[in-house]
Amino acid sequence: MIKKAVIPAAGLGTRFLPATKAQPKEMLPIIDTPTIQYVVQEAVDSGIEDILIITGKGKRSIEDHFDRNYELETRLEEKEDEALLHEMRRLSDMADIHFVRQRELNGLGDAIYYARHHVGSEPFAVLLGDTIMDSVIPVTQQLIDTYEQYRGTVIAVEEVPADKVNRYGIVGGSSLSDSIMELNTLVEKPAVESAPSNLAIAGRYILTADIFSAIEQTPKGKNNEIQLTDAMRLLLKRECVYSHRIEGRRHDIGNKMDFLKTTVEFALKRKEFAGPFLKFLKEIVAQHS
Ligand code: G1P
Repeated sequence: MIKKAVIPAAGLGTRFLPATKAQPKEMLPIIDTPTIQYVVQEAVDSGIEDILIITGKGKRSIEDHFDRNYELETRLEEKEDEALLHEMRRLSDMADIHFVRQRELNGLGDAIYYARHHVGSEPFAVLLGDTIMDSVIPVTQQLIDTYEQYRGTVIAVEEVPADKVNRYGIVGGSSLSDSIMELNTLVEKPAVESAPSNLAIAGRYILTADIFSAIEQTPKGKNNEIQLTDAMRLLLKRECVYSHRIEGRRHDIGNKMDFLKTTVEFALKRKEFAGPFLKFLKEIVAQHS
């Protein structure tokens, strides 16, 4: 059973400046809910009970978000706003949440390495803190199901267009079923000509504890950082690694266009906004056409 998850959330968010100069990109809200809360919810909905968030400089508001705020609770009690009070208390009870700070920004592989003592020898889930998944079955649950079947590292992937291949980790291998491949290579942000496929690593993983020794042996790669993709390629020499094509949609909140689209899509799913917001959108579209 996979009960632990690691959420790396230490990155600078340079693609979303100036909004991320003094606030973490993981706290950017989609409507009224910070991105990382959707990510924690996905983990909890997948049966995860213990979460380690890797933070860093300027990320303290993430800790505050999942902590109790007694002053706020007292105010909500006085206003008799039971629903909001309940929601604020639920936030600090979602899971057993821990934090560790990455001291230097040395890449995703280095960030994951900070989890080694917390995780111990168990397999664990990794969910990137700036990526929201929209799916019927939580994507982490999909990966856990594949892990239970194959008992090895499982990486979420999705198809991307050729002109976006160089923005992602890309996998290659042989198909075991419609959605699962056994991998023989992984490359971080390859040029499209040398990419093994157009299947991109989608920000969710099930890793075994063997990843930690692989990270130790991984030299700096793309962007002079220790890449998780490179460490997983090293693992291929020792054990089977699988990719799982996800059922669902990935929203990369660190990307401004994706952020806008996600906000609109999520607003249209909310009962209180759906009708009036759709009417507003139609009016706007009419004005611009
Ligand atoms: C990271 C990973 C990459 C993956 C991507 C998904 O890259 O290194 O393999 O495809 O997340 O979002 P980053 O976006 O942090 O550059």
